[in-house]
Amino acid sequence: MMPTNRVMQSYGRCCASPGFFDSFYQRFLASSPIIRDKFTATDMLAQKQLLRAGILNLVLYARGMPDSKLRDLGHSHSREGFDIRPELYELWLEALLQTVAEHDREAGADDLRAWREVLGKGIALIKSYY
Ligand code: HEM
Repeated sequence: MMPTNRVMQSYGRCCASPGFFDSFYQRFLASSPIIRDKFTATDMLAQKQLLRAGILNLVLYARGMPDSKLRDLGHSHSREGFDIRPELYELWLEALLQTVAEHDREAGADDLRAWREVLGKGIALIKSYY
């Protein structure tokens, strides 16, 4: 199966699993005080909805969607914006993969590899705007 199709199916199961986005942010915020400090004034309920669409945009980009949405994220996360240093995306990806493994009981090693590959493309684009 194509990596992007694997990820779409796995993401569907994750979104159907209660608490997926809560678990992700719990892990992600716990992974570094720098990350926690970035979200002290954030409406986390709204943030979870924004991330739901953000992950979808990463997958659609890997499937050939134009890069305009990810370029917007690149600008908002750049040093002139939220100032998200490139190495923080590694913590983001690790927190996400652990959360996928926890919430998608059907996800095997091939699926997790597909997630890493598919999201990696969009993450590289976002980081390139730092
Ligand atoms: C805001 C997605 C990585 C910190 C946002 C928004 C989206 C988003 C959709 C809201 C739209 C916007 O303001 O531009 C993503 C995606 C990521 C990612 C898809 C991974 C590829 C990160 C990382 C950090 C981070 C690694 C590090 C701390 C923030 C902050 C905000 C934000 C601080 C603003 C929160 C607020 O409004 O208070 N992100 N993000 N993001 N993101 Fe990210």
